Amino acid sequence: MTSSPADTPHASVDQTAVSAPEHLHIAVVGAGKAGTAVARSLLDAGYRVSLSASGDPQTLALMAGIITPGAEPKWTRDAVAGADLVILALPLHRLRLVDPALLEGKVVVDAMNYWPPVDGEIPAFEAEGLGSSVVVQEMFPGAAVVKTFNHTGYSSLEPDRRPAGHPERLGLAVAGNRPDAVALVSAVVDRIGYDPVPVGSLAATRFLQPGGSAFGARLTAAQLKELAGMTVEVTSAEIPSDNTFRPVVIRHGRAIGLSRDDSQWLSSTDSH
Ligand SMILES: NC(=O)c1ccc[n+]([C@@H]2O[C@H](COP(=O)([O-])OP(=O)(O)OC[C@H]3O[C@@H](n4cnc5c(N)ncnc54)[C@H](OP(=O)(O)O)[C@@H]3O)[C@@H](O)[C@H]2O)c1
Repeated sequence: MTSSPADTPHASVDQTAVSAPEHLHIAVVGAGKAGTAVARSLLDAGYRVSLSASGDPQTLALMAGIITPGAEPKWTRDAVAGADLVILALPLHRLRLVDPALLEGKVVVDAMNYWPPVDGEIPAFEAEGLGSSVVVQEMFPGAAVVKTFNHTGYSSLEPDRRPAGHPERLGLAVAGNRPDAVALVSAVVDRIGYDPVPVGSLAATRFLQPGGSAFGARLTAAQLKELAGMTVEVTSAEIPSDNTFRPVVIRHGRAIGLSRDDSQWLSSTDSH
C-alpha cells in the first residue's frame, strides 16, 4: 500500500475554492445513473458542471441535453483539466482506463462501489480489507480522494435533498485522508442539500460500502455518526416534529432503514 498523498505538493487544495465553494467547476466522470443524478444535483445548486462518459462528447450531448440540461459534455481529459473538483461515477472495473496523470493535484470524489456482479472479481478490491476507496487512492496517488455519494441510491439522491435546518434533512458521509479536501467536498454536499458528516479517513469507510451498515440506508447526520462510531447528541432539530421519520433499525449490525413510513424502508442491500 502506498502512503497517503497528504504530503504531495500536487494535491494541495486551492484555498480560494474552499472559501468560495459556490463557484466551483465540477467534472463528473461517468454519465450513467449515479453520475447524472449527481450532475443534476450540482447544477441545481448552481455549480458549473462538465460531464463525460467513455466516448465522444457529441454522442453524450444528445442524452445530456435531455437528462442533465446545463451540463457541458466533454472528453474526460478536457472535463477534468478545467475542473476544481472531479467526481468519479463510473463502474470500478473501468477505472483503470482513467489516466492517473489527469487527476494529479485534483480533489477527487469517489462515488463508486465495488460490485462484483457488475465489475467482475478484481483482486485488488477483493483483497482490500480497508475499503475500496483506499485502493482508488492508491491508483491515483497524486489526487486527494474523498469518498461520498456512494452509500446512497441514485434514485433517492435528488428527492431526498433538503435545505439546511430542515427536520427531514439527511446526512451524507464524507471521508478522506486530507482535511482540506474533506472540507471542500463537505461544502458541496451541504449546498446540494445534505448534512455532510466527516467520518474519518478512507480506511474507516467499510460501513459505507455494499454489505456495510450505512449502505443504502437513508440516515440523518446523527444516525450516520452513530454508525461511524462517533458520539452524537441528537438535537430536537434532528427529530421531525410530526414524528413521520422512524428511527433507523440496526439488525445484526446493519442499518435496515429510515423512512417516512414502513413501506419505504430500504434494505441496505437494495442498491449499489
Ligand atoms: N446506481 C446507483 O444507485 C449508485 C449509487 C451510488 C454509487 N454508484 C456507483 O457509481 C458507479 C457508476 O454506477 P452507475 O449505476 O451510474 O453505472 P451506469 O449507469 O452503468 O453508468 C456508468 C457510466 O460510466 C461511464 N463510463 C464507463 N467507462 C468510462 C470511462 N472509462 N470514462 C468515463 N466514463 C466511463 C459510462 O459511459 P458509456 O455509456 O459511454 O460507457 C456510463 O455513463 C458504480 O461504481 C456504482 O457502484 C451507483
